Amino acid sequence: MLKYENNPEAPALELISTADLSDWMANADPINSAWVSQAGFEAQPNQFVFLPAAHEEPNTVLVGIGDKPSIESIGALPSLLPPGAYQLNTNNKDIILGWGLGAYRFESYKTTKTGLRELYVGSQHVDVEHEISAMGISRDLINTPTSDMLPHDLEGAARKIAIKHNATIEVTTGDELLLQKYNTIHAVGRASISSPRLIDLQWGPSDGPSITVVGKGVCFDSGGLNIKPASNMRSMKKDMGGAATVLGLADLIMAKKLPIRLRVLVPAVENAIAGNAFRPGDVLTTYLGKTVEIDNTDAEGRLILCDALALAVEENPDLLIDFATLTGAARSALGTELPAMFSNDDSVANDLIASGKKIMDPLWHMPLHEEYRYLLDSKIADMVNSASTPYGGAITAALFLKEFVGNVPWVHFDVMGWNLRSRPAHPEGGEAMGLRAVYQYLSDRFA
Ligand code: BES
Ligand code: ZN
Ligand code: ZN
Repeated sequence: MLKYENNPEAPALELISTADLSDWMANADPINSAWVSQAGFEAQPNQFVFLPAAHEEPNTVLVGIGDKPSIESIGALPSLLPPGAYQLNTNNKDIILGWGLGAYRFESYKTTKTGLRELYVGSQHVDVEHEISAMGISRDLINTPTSDMLPHDLEGAARKIAIKHNATIEVTTGDELLLQKYNTIHAVGRASISSPRLIDLQWGPSDGPSITVVGKGVCFDSGGLNIKPASNMRSMKKDMGGAATVLGLADLIMAKKLPIRLRVLVPAVENAIAGNAFRPGDVLTTYLGKTVEIDNTDAEGRLILCDALALAVEENPDLLIDFATLTGAARSALGTELPAMFSNDDSVANDLIASGKKIMDPLWHMPLHEEYRYLLDSKIADMVNSASTPYGGAITAALFLKEFVGNVPWVHFDVMGWNLRSRPAHPEGGEAMGLRAVYQYLSDRFA
């Protein structure tokens, strides 16, 4: 937790890089330097030692940041330092951001909360506040159990963000989806107790460059009639991670008032099982008009996304970006901590990679390998929703989406949406992977 003021009573964090440690030792009070070396302190990131010198009041905590400051330098301290208040004077934004991201906790369902670590940073750093709270919005949405995060709850969350920033929002729900021809969103979501819907949020100057972001909002993915085994289903409250990421991104863009025209599309559904569930073998006519034969009801994300993407390209935006927890195959390819990025525009993709590197939100460029398109051929419809082989599953999923975006510059992120382990600045649980990279890219390009 960050406080944008000073607290003279709180112990001060004194940051030190590995390069500066020997100088520090040479100049320190001998009691302190002996203590620090006995403690084995090497100024590694997130390493800390309380200094003993008796005349220091309040205490000083010597904190390592490694060889250079980054969001990881002190991003683990909010769970390592004893609970309490600390003061930090630094002009490095990444250091403060790392603390803010690392201090995130999801404790709404805990009756006893963990002790707070508050970091007083003075008033010059308020600009990181928006980034931290946007990431918090995404993480909260993902972490919230499905019983409190069904499609109507996701709509509520989007409405809250729209009201906060004076954006307009329209939601098409239930049978109305059929009248507007969003057949895939309806088919995937109709078996749920909470009606399927398409959320459409718009904001910003009408003459600005138009950016549309689309997020997979599968509030729970049981697999549908192709039901998932228990171990795979366990984590599927996070299958709205794409929606959570674009809503957090939208909050950040609007809070920082980026000069763009923003549109956020979230198809929100639960892939549930009931007598009216869609089935393997059914053929759906998508919003674009292409027909899809359902091979597997567990490949539902690409179905709801294809109608949202087809709607998005109708107004020919300058850039179209989607986020989705789309395939297990992307995780087989890259592991859980590196989002897979696909794009029909190499220069946008290269710039995004560079933006991600700059701020430690890594992405990996994957190929839209057209030679695999045949894997989506159907005997009775224009395509199937799931290839007959799991090999290259992230690519075939991306190729499916590509059928619906025409010539619009488009980027697709296949993300985990979840930290399986805690890392500095990345606590275990829901995570908005790629959000900061995309924000950085947009602000470099348009601000
Ligand atoms: N939501 C899952 C993908 C997923 C699984 C993302 C685990 C992250 C972690 C998606 O709807 C799904 O079930 N995909 C299938 C596609 C297959 C049926 C073609 C998959 O990846 O197995
Ligand atoms: Zn699925
Ligand atoms: Zn899914």
